[in-house]
Amino acid sequence: MTEQNWLVNDEGRCEAWAEGPALEDGTPPYRLYRFLTELEDLLIEVGDNRQRLRGICPLVRKLLADSAWLQMMPGAPDPATGWEVSTLYDEPFFPLTVQLVVWAPGVKSSIHNHAAWGVVALLSGQEKNTFWRRSPTAKFPDKIQVAGEQVFDPGQILCLMPEAIHQVEALGDEPTVSFNVYGETDYDHRFEFDVDRHTAHIF
Ligand SMILES: [Fe+2]
Repeated sequence: MTEQNWLVNDEGRCEAWAEGPALEDGTPPYRLYRFLTELEDLLIEVGDNRQRLRGICPLVRKLLADSAWLQMMPGAPDPATGWEVSTLYDEPFFPLTVQLVVWAPGVKSSIHNHAAWGVVALLSGQEKNTFWRRSPTAKFPDKIQVAGEQVFDPGQILCLMPEAIHQVEALGDEPTVSFNVYGETDYDHRFEFDVDRHTAHIF
């Protein structure tokens, strides 16, 4: 058996064709599928969510550094809701979701947890995060109180533990864009909180 490549050119001529040089430097772009592969390897290897998040951050940074297309991709926020989610990866029976999320200026999210580890990297704009902690009473087991707030700028990565409760507000005059990765969601424990009524509901 002789290995040979062939190329049919634009004029229909079939030519024996030498292969291009092998990739030598071993540094092809860190594409989304490479990121997902390394992420899956990490999740198999590391069970602790905090340690997972520590390991995921550098992978996200590497992906963002090599993926200018992410900056070009996001659409405008839906005028009706003030936000838009573009799903980049979501495979049934595989516990990873990768999204680009756009918020219109001034729009606030609900107060929620994700019931999954989460990594949010801001690509453009500025987002204020308000964080809450549970403060249950006998009468209001889902009561929460403010635990802090922080403004995030592009280049900053927010890691969320599954029970972390937060609310996002888009600051400034331009829509904000973030790159989001979430682990497997425990839908029985993902809540939106009503801070006035001291209640929570699954969403
Ligand atoms: Fe969130």
